[in-house]
Amino acid sequence: MAMTFCIAPSLLSADFARLGEEVKNVIAAGSDWIHFDVMDNHYVPNLTFGPMICSALKPHAKTAAGVAVPIDVHLMVQPVDALASAFADAGADLISFHPDATSHVHRSIQVIKSKGCKAGLAFNPGQPLDVLDWVIEDIDLIVIMSVNPGFGGQSFIDSALRKIEDVRRRITASGKNIRLEVDGGVKVDNIRQIADAGADTFVAGSAIFGKPDYKAVVDAMRASLAA
Ligand code: DX5
Ligand code: ZN
Repeated sequence: MAMTFCIAPSLLSADFARLGEEVKNVIAAGSDWIHFDVMDNHYVPNLTFGPMICSALKPHAKTAAGVAVPIDVHLMVQPVDALASAFADAGADLISFHPDATSHVHRSIQVIKSKGCKAGLAFNPGQPLDVLDWVIEDIDLIVIMSVNPGFGGQSFIDSALRKIEDVRRRITASGKNIRLEVDGGVKVDNIRQIADAGADTFVAGSAIFGKPDYKAVVDAMRASLAA
């Protein structure tokens, strides 16, 4: 089956004074998902936005034709469960968390799924994938961090490529329809190499919002993926 690629611009690099407009513009540029980075100044050394901002943006997360664009919430928070639940109520479609940020990974996954959202696990560059041995059957998304979480605009850490290959093998072995997202330092000039390692979903913050023409970047990414 041909792989379908998803591009998920991260609002972390958007203009926070014009978030609704930024969501609309980046959807008009061809985004598949909107990536929403939640930082708590505890699990990571930065602070961003909470569920109220997510629900305020939800009505803007649709194409001009009215088709909903999924909101992909990336929780960099500790603990996980209460905020995951609040984001589900705020309109999140997918919710990912870091397994080391919760005492009970399986329970946190169930909290997300019981709210009707898709559940994801996010792995930092220095973290092993072992927990997947026990929960891969329960999740919809695996996020490989290719930077240490907390900030946009960092450089891609190459060991993520090996980790993506490992995750792709695990997904294939599971036989499940699980998306493999890579987050951090994704640019037009490395997206193809990342896809070749096995990723199908690409978060890009500074690469898109750092440029005046979002569509030109999204188109260039799709062209590299298609080449
Ligand atoms: C980092 C965030 C990323 C970040 C990516 O903690 O999880 O989603 O926005 O930004 P870039 O694409 O600039 O590396
Ligand atoms: Zn993220």
